Amino acid sequence: MFPTLRAAFLALFLHASTITTTFALDNGLGLTPVMGWNSWNKFACGINETLIHSIADALVSTGLRDLGYHYLNLDDCWQLTRDMGSGKIKEDPNKFPSGMKALGDYIHSKGLKYGLYSDAGLMTCQRRPGSLGLETIDAQSYADFGCDYLKYDNCYAFGLKPQKRYEAMRDALNATGRPIFFSMCEWGALDPATWATPIGNSWRTTGDINPTWGSILEILDRNDPLWPYAGPGAWNDPDMLEVGNGNLTVEQQRSHFTLWAIMKAPLILGNDIRTISQESLDIITNKKIIAINQDKLGAQAHSVWTSDEKDTQVWAGPLDEGEFVIVLFNRGDINNVEIAVHWKDIPDFYTDTTTMVLEDLWCDWNTTATGSFTAKVQAHDVVAFRASPTKKSNNLRKNVNLQSQA
Ligand SMILES: *[C@@H]1O[C@H](CO)[C@@H](O)[C@H](O)[C@H]1NC(C)=O
Ligand SMILES: *[C@@H]1O[C@H](CO)[C@@H](O)[C@H](O)[C@H]1NC(C)=O
Ligand SMILES: *[C@@H]1O[C@H](CO)[C@@H](O)[C@H](O)[C@H]1NC(C)=O
Ligand SMILES: *[C@@H]1O[C@H](CO)[C@@H](O)[C@H](O)[C@H]1NC(C)=O
Repeated sequence: MFPTLRAAFLALFLHASTITTTFALDNGLGLTPVMGWNSWNKFACGINETLIHSIADALVSTGLRDLGYHYLNLDDCWQLTRDMGSGKIKEDPNKFPSGMKALGDYIHSKGLKYGLYSDAGLMTCQRRPGSLGLETIDAQSYADFGCDYLKYDNCYAFGLKPQKRYEAMRDALNATGRPIFFSMCEWGALDPATWATPIGNSWRTTGDINPTWGSILEILDRNDPLWPYAGPGAWNDPDMLEVGNGNLTVEQQRSHFTLWAIMKAPLILGNDIRTISQESLDIITNKKIIAINQDKLGAQAHSVWTSDEKDTQVWAGPLDEGEFVIVLFNRGDINNVEIAVHWKDIPDFYTDTTTMVLEDLWCDWNTTATGSFTAKVQAHDVVAFRASPTKKSNNLRKNVNLQSQA
C-alpha cells in the first residue's frame, strides 16, 4: 500500500523522462539508512591508527555497535600520495604505519564495517590525491583494503558534470565485485536528489553541518522537501550528527537526533564516543527512535503543518504496517508552547474518528487520542510518537487499497 503511494508521489515529483527502471543502486546495500561513526566532525585531519582502534573498541564497549552503529568511517587525510610506479593510492605512513588493510582487519575483527573517503576531483578537500580519472585503480585498492563504504567528496572537480564523475566511481566500485556502500558528497549543489538514485546509496543534500542550532535548522529546512526522493537503498543525506559536539543543549541534541532519524538520514555519529556524556549517549541509544529510522518502509517523514510565525511545526510520515511517526517540534525560544496535531493535516493518515494509540518515543508513556492531540513542548525540543490505530479497521482517509492492509 504505502510503497505504491510513494511511487505515485515520485511520479508526480519527477519528470517522466527522468524516472529510471531501477529505483536504487543495485548493490544490495542500505535497505535501511546506514548507522555508524565518522571522524570528520570531531577530529578533522587529526586521525591515526591509535585513534581509530580506540573508536572501534568504544563502538563495542558503549553498546553502540549492537544497536546498529556498524560503520566506522575515516574521512579525509588518511591518504597522502600515490605510488610512482603502480599509481596506487598510499596512506599517510606516519598516521597509519600498519597500512589500510591491517586497519580494516582490526575493524572487521570487532564486528564492524570499514569506511574510507575519496574525492571525485583531482584532489580531496584537504588537498590529498583525488580519484578523478583513476576510479578503477582506486576502487580496486579500497576493495583490497576490505573497505565496505566509500564517502566520495566534490572538491577540485573544475566544473565537470557530477553525474559523470559519480557514475564513474559507481561503476568502478561495482567492477571490484565487493559490495561497497556508495555515499555521494556533492553538497546538494546540483540537486542530486533528482538524479542520484541510480548512482549512489545516499547523497548529501546540503553543505557541511556545524554544531550550532542555526546550522541544524538550515539543513533541516533544505532536506525536508526532498522526502519524495528517499527510499530503500537511496537516501537523502543531511550530513552527519553533531550530538555531543559544540554547545548544543540536551533539547537541541534530542531534536536533532529525532528529526534526522525520522527523515531517514544516515545516522553517522560525529563526536568522541570515548568521552561522550551520559545525556548525549542516552540520546543516540534511544531504541524507539532508532527503530523509526530503521523502519523497513523507508519513507522520509516531512513537515505537514507550520505555524504562521514559523516557530512550531508538526512532522509526520508513514511506517510499515499502517503506523505513523508524529513529531511536535518547537523551533522557537519560548518554553511550554502548546502544539496540536490534527489527523486531517497528515497526508494519507486516518479519519478524524479514528482513535490512535500514541507511544511516546522519549518517555515511557502511552496515551490514546481521537482526531487530534495537543502537547506542551519546551523551547528547541520535540515530543515524538509512534501512532497506531487501535483497531485495523477501514478508517484510512483516502487513496488506500484496504485489501492490502489486512
Ligand atoms: C553490480 O551491478 C549489477 C547490476 O546492477 C548488480 O546486479 C550487482 O549486484 C552489482 N555488484 C556489486 C558488487 O555491487
Ligand atoms: C592520534 O590522534 C589523536 C586525535 O587527534 C591524538 O590525540 C593523538 O595524539 C594521535 N596519536 C598519534 C600517535 O599520533
Ligand atoms: C561554545 O561556547 C564557547 C564559549 O562560549 C565558545 O567559545 C565556542 O565557540 C562555542 N562553540 C560553538 C561550536 O559554538
Ligand atoms: C506503549 O505501547 C507499546 C506498543 O504497544 C508497548 O510496547 C509499551 O509497553 C507501552 N508502554 C507503556 C508505558 O504502556
